[in-house]
Amino acid sequence: MTPYLLVSRSVEFESRVRALLETSVNIVTGEFLTFGAETVVGRFDSTPRIALLGPLLNYEETHDLVEALAELNPDVGLIVVREQRSDLEEWVDEISPHAVLSPNASDETILELLERLATWLIENGRAEAHHFDVPPPAGVPGATLAALVAREAPPTELEAIPIEGVAFDPLMQAGPVEIWEFPPLAAGVPTEAIAVVAPKGGQGKTTLAINLATGLAEVAPNSVVLIDADLQFGDIVTALGLEPERTIVDAVADAASDEIVLKTALTHHADGFFVVAGAPSPELGDAIPTQALGQLIERLRGSFRYVVVDTTPGLGEHALVVLEHVTDAVFVTNMSVPSLRAMRTEFDLLTRIGLMPGNRHVVLNQTDRLSGLTVRDAENIIGAPIDVDVPRSSAVLLASNRGVPLIHDDVRDPAAKAIRSVVMRIAPDAFPKRRKIQRKRGSDESQ
Ligand SMILES: Nc1ncnc2c1ncn2[C@@H]1O[C@H](COP(=O)(O)OP(=O)(O)OP(=O)(O)O)[C@@H](O)[C@H]1O
Ligand SMILES: [Mg+2]
Repeated sequence: MTPYLLVSRSVEFESRVRALLETSVNIVTGEFLTFGAETVVGRFDSTPRIALLGPLLNYEETHDLVEALAELNPDVGLIVVREQRSDLEEWVDEISPHAVLSPNASDETILELLERLATWLIENGRAEAHHFDVPPPAGVPGATLAALVAREAPPTELEAIPIEGVAFDPLMQAGPVEIWEFPPLAAGVPTEAIAVVAPKGGQGKTTLAINLATGLAEVAPNSVVLIDADLQFGDIVTALGLEPERTIVDAVADAASDEIVLKTALTHHADGFFVVAGAPSPELGDAIPTQALGQLIERLRGSFRYVVVDTTPGLGEHALVVLEHVTDAVFVTNMSVPSLRAMRTEFDLLTRIGLMPGNRHVVLNQTDRLSGLTVRDAENIIGAPIDVDVPRSSAVLLASNRGVPLIHDDVRDPAAKAIRSVVMRIAPDAFPKRRKIQRKRGSDESQ
C-alpha cells in the first residue's frame, strides 16, 4: 500500500519527501507529463490517497493531473506545492486543492499537514484508516506517520491553528481560504510602522492607508499588515471587500499570546498584505485600552516589515498612542481652510509634547483648481511644506466602491500616481510593475 503520491520537477523537494515518507510515497518526475496526465497516473499500481502536486508544475499540468487523479479516486486528498504568487487564489478557486504548501515549508510542517489531511479524509469517510498503515520508515522501529509527527511537533487542532506556510481551502476549514504565508523576518531587518493621521474626519486617511499597504506589499509581499485603528467607524474591510472572522478586539487580546495565535486574528488580502479588521462596534473599539493598542503595534512590528495604521480622526488617546509607536506619520488634509488650520495646530501640539514621529509626510488630498487656494497657500496656512498633492478624482470613490485598492485598480489615474509617490517616499523600490498592471487590466476586461 502506497498512500502518497508526489509529482514534481524539483529533485530537492523529491528527495526531502522521499526521506520523510520513504516507501509510503510514489514519486513521479514531471518529465512524464509530456506524455499526458493519464500516463503519470497509470505509472503506479496502488490508489493514491493523498497527492502532492509540485513544485514547478504549471497550471495546465496541475489541472490535468487533478482530473486524472479524481477519475482514479474521487476522494483523493490534493496538496498543491507551490510558492505563493499573486495568482495563488485563482489556482485555489479553479483547482480546489485541500491545501497549498510552500516548497520551503519545514519537514515538521509537511508531516503535520499530511497527518491533518489524512485524519480529515478518514473522519469524513473519504479514506480508511488502514490506507495509511504503512511499513515503518527504516531506522525508526515501529514508527507510524502519526508517531513521527508527534515526535517532530505536537499535533495541533485542525480547525484552530493554521500551519505557517500552508493555505487551506474550505474543505478542510470552515470559512474562506486563508493564506498563511509569513516570510520570516531576517534578523536585523529594520521594520517600519506608518500611521496615517488627520485632525479632521473624511480627509482621505483610509484611502491613503489602504494604498500604502498595497504598494508596500509589492516590495515586501505578505510582510505588510494594515491595522484599522479607526476604532469607532473603521471601514477598511468594506473598502477592501473583506469578510474577516476576527477583528482588532481579538487582536489586542491576542497580542499578549504567542505569535501563531496573534496571526489568526489577521485577514489576508489577495494583493499580498494582512489586515487587522476594525472593531465590530464603536463601544467595543473605544473600550480597547490604549496600552494594548501600542502593544499590538509593537508585536506586529516583530513579524512584519511594514505595519500601516489607519487612525481615528483627531488627537484622542488612541491616536496619540499610535504616534508613540510608529516611525513615520502620513498627515492628510484637504484644501479647506478649517482643515489646514487644524493641521497646523496638530503639528504644533505634537512637536510640543514630543510625539512627532521621525519621518513626516504631508499629503494635501483632493486638490482642486476650483478651491480658490493654491498649494502654496495651503503650505502657508499649515506652516510646513506639502510633500505630495493628490488631485480630486472620481477613480478614488470608484475603487472604494469596487472594493479594490486604487493603485491597482486604475494605475493611470492622477490620484493613483500621486498616492504611488507617497508609497515611494517610504519604499523607493515600489515603482509600478508593468506585469501587475496588465494582469489587473486583463482581469477587469473579463468581468
Ligand atoms: N483624492 C480624492 N479624490 C476624490 N475622492 C476622494 C479622494 N480621497 C478620498 N476621497 C473620498 O473621500 C471620502 C473620504 O475618504 P476616506 O474614507 O479615505 O477618508 P478618512 O479620512 O478615512 O475618513 P474618516 O475620517 O471618515 O475615516 C471617501 O468617499 C473617498 O472615496
Ligand atoms: Mg477612514
